[in-house]
Amino acid sequence: MLYPLFKPLIFAFDAESAHGLSLAALRALLRRPHILQSPELRTEFAGLHFPGPVGLAPGYDKNAEIFTKAHGLGFGFVEIGTVTPLPQAGNPRPRLFRLVEDRAVINRMGFNNDGMEAVARRIAMADSAGRAVPLGINIGANKDSADRIADYEKAMARLAPLADYVTINISSPNTPGLRALQHKGALDDLLVRVKAAAPLGKPVFLKVAPDLEPADIDDIVASVIEHRIDALIISNTTVLRPTLRSHHAGEAGGLSGAPLRDLAQQRLIDFRKASGGEVSLIGVGGIASAEDAYARIRAGASLVQLYSALVYEGPYLARRINAGLVALLQRDGFASIGEAVGVDCK
Ligand SMILES: Cc1cc2nc3c(=O)[nH]c(=O)nc-3n(C[C@H](O)[C@H](O)[C@H](O)COP(=O)(O)O)c2cc1C
Repeated sequence: MLYPLFKPLIFAFDAESAHGLSLAALRALLRRPHILQSPELRTEFAGLHFPGPVGLAPGYDKNAEIFTKAHGLGFGFVEIGTVTPLPQAGNPRPRLFRLVEDRAVINRMGFNNDGMEAVARRIAMADSAGRAVPLGINIGANKDSADRIADYEKAMARLAPLADYVTINISSPNTPGLRALQHKGALDDLLVRVKAAAPLGKPVFLKVAPDLEPADIDDIVASVIEHRIDALIISNTTVLRPTLRSHHAGEAGGLSGAPLRDLAQQRLIDFRKASGGEVSLIGVGGIASAEDAYARIRAGASLVQLYSALVYEGPYLARRINAGLVALLQRDGFASIGEAVGVDCK
């Protein structure tokens, strides 16, 4: 793999410029995609067919610029966004930091995105051959909106017809007050209204923060079951700061990458226990290897996602994880990912 050669060059740019460059490179490259074809990795989930369990987490392709290329990198699904009804600029730069010594990232992007109309046009124009894997659209509220729940309703109504699934994101730490939608009363209001705006039968997922108390977890599980949400995505970035070595450690925002791994794994276990296996789970946070992905699956995740590790491991990480997962499944005598889901909780 060439990434170790290019990494110093990429790291010479600030983190946000490097991200822009990587998007441009992906748009230009990958004409001949790699097709995921290990039968062990195929997964049916929420009525959708996933050729592999490793997805590209939202935040990388916020504006649907390269989602048709994701399967060429080995991703079995891709989630774009967060998309808000109106375009918004996000927070002032710098707002994205590499914590190299910690293999981590801190971001306070603040839902910078082109808005739902521009994103919808881009998706509608993408060639259908590029939609080889399920497309999730992650939706959010504009920072200055007077009625945030109405923003989720609008984004759901506009974008769901273009998506294979929609994720309601109420867990970004960078839109002040957004995480309050995770609290019982607000969450029930939100889920009733946003589900009513979804086309019948469209899978709807909910993405939560790792920074939750046991009582919050019980409440969220009860709401998710009551409102028939199809899956919980655990988790977004953390506002906690475990011991970090990088000089960027004090930056405000959400922390992701290696220092989030154990916390996200623990929250997945907490949600699995609280739901007694009744709610489908997707694991995300600090996944950087096949072993990390496999541990999340064994703890109850039917699918996993990653973003930050791409910075350190390079664009073909998902392909390597897929190969590693096949070997781990064979080692343990499982014929498919589905057989391994939750085995550590039984
Ligand atoms: C720069 C950056 C931007 C992100 N933007 C979003 C976003 O818009 N919506 C969202 O739901 N999550 C967003 N995330 C969170 C990721 O999707 C993921 O939940 C989190 O980073 C943990 O996974 P990781 O450790 O593999 O990165 C963002 C993460 C990063 C690093």
